[in-house]
Amino acid sequence: MQAYINIKSIVQTNRGKVAVRGENMAFLPTIDDGFLLIDNKKIVDFGSMSVFDFEKNHEIIDCTDRYILPTYCDSHTHVVFAATREAELLQRLKGASYLEIAAAGGGILNSALRLQTCDEQQLYDDAFYRIEKMIQTGTGAIEIKSGYGLSVDAELKMLRVIRKLKENLTLPIKATLLAAHAFPAIYKSNRAAYVALIIDQILPQCVDAGLVDYCDAFVENGFFTVAEADQIFEKASALNIKIKVHANQLSNSGGVKLGVGYNATSVDHLEHLDAEDYRLLSGSDTVATLLPSAAFFLNDSMPDAIELIKNNAIVALASDYNPGTSPSGNMNFVNSLAAIKMKMTTEMCINASTINGAFAMDVHHQLGSIDIGKNASFIITEKIQSIDAMPYSFGSPSIYKVII
Ligand code: NIG
Ligand code: FE
Repeated sequence: MQAYINIKSIVQTNRGKVAVRGENMAFLPTIDDGFLLIDNKKIVDFGSMSVFDFEKNHEIIDCTDRYILPTYCDSHTHVVFAATREAELLQRLKGASYLEIAAAGGGILNSALRLQTCDEQQLYDDAFYRIEKMIQTGTGAIEIKSGYGLSVDAELKMLRVIRKLKENLTLPIKATLLAAHAFPAIYKSNRAAYVALIIDQILPQCVDAGLVDYCDAFVENGFFTVAEADQIFEKASALNIKIKVHANQLSNSGGVKLGVGYNATSVDHLEHLDAEDYRLLSGSDTVATLLPSAAFFLNDSMPDAIELIKNNAIVALASDYNPGTSPSGNMNFVNSLAAIKMKMTTEMCINASTINGAFAMDVHHQLGSIDIGKNASFIITEKIQSIDAMPYSFGSPSIYKVII
């Protein structure tokens, strides 16, 4: 049994399995001067040092002046990809928009082309390396999307890579089928045929192979319409697969309304919302997942996190790690952006990136808070003055150690 003792403060305790919303977002339950007991990779006890039993034969780890908080649950990534796309950054600096680059065959289609010819082992090795770095910056669970395959074979290939990552890494991973990420060039003038391919072949084959936890679609001008995504989600629901949506990123695409209608696990991005979207999210358990590093990288407006919180939505934060709009999986940076650009307090940031992120990928029974019975998956901070140092230190995270 390991005993972490003299912890300056244990942050995010006793949240159980419930998401945090509304006024509770401004609050983080903590225990000052605490101890945390770990046995067999589970949290077995925690509390105030005043009741710690020094008589028992524990392996002692002293945490004087350090905080402990649960690891981040990054519920939206595209971390399996074949190549970076820094050339697109230069194109954007010269004035091209993300949509223009995509329409000219760059963007997602460029990634799809590279992935089709990339060796499966290489894809796995590269993703493994990226995830190891994410763990170092405090991430303890990730969702990974397909969507750079865009054919039966290549989507299966991506999902097999994700399965192998699940098998070989100790952190929980969820797999999302995102065949509806972009229309392959050969289907540009026959969109219905690609939607039919997804419904009749890609979805059922990937689900049959046991490779899919969620189904997602990019609902946006130039990508999938609400009607097209609706057909795909209907099929996914018939196969008992839960829904996530890339919604309202570049315009008010109708993705939020569609997702909430399907009781989606989450609707993600949300840069462009109307009053009806806020109303729907306020009464729903669908998580509103914000991806500020994508808005930052595209130099777009940020989602209105405070308005969502005021409206009682369940707000989560995720990295959207991908080669086109967010080439970083650093959740500390995401929290810093959330604070600086969206005015989220440290309490809101940590609630959004721990327990609510866990809720957005259905790992809240194991992760997202310091609770007895949950996984021993936590961050030990540097010797910091207050927990506000986490969003404050945006360039070099105040992390001493990550225990997975
Ligand atoms: O979440 N918006 C769509 N999908 C990704 C970007 C994918 C890419 O450009 O490769 C996103 O931002
Ligand atoms: Fe994304």
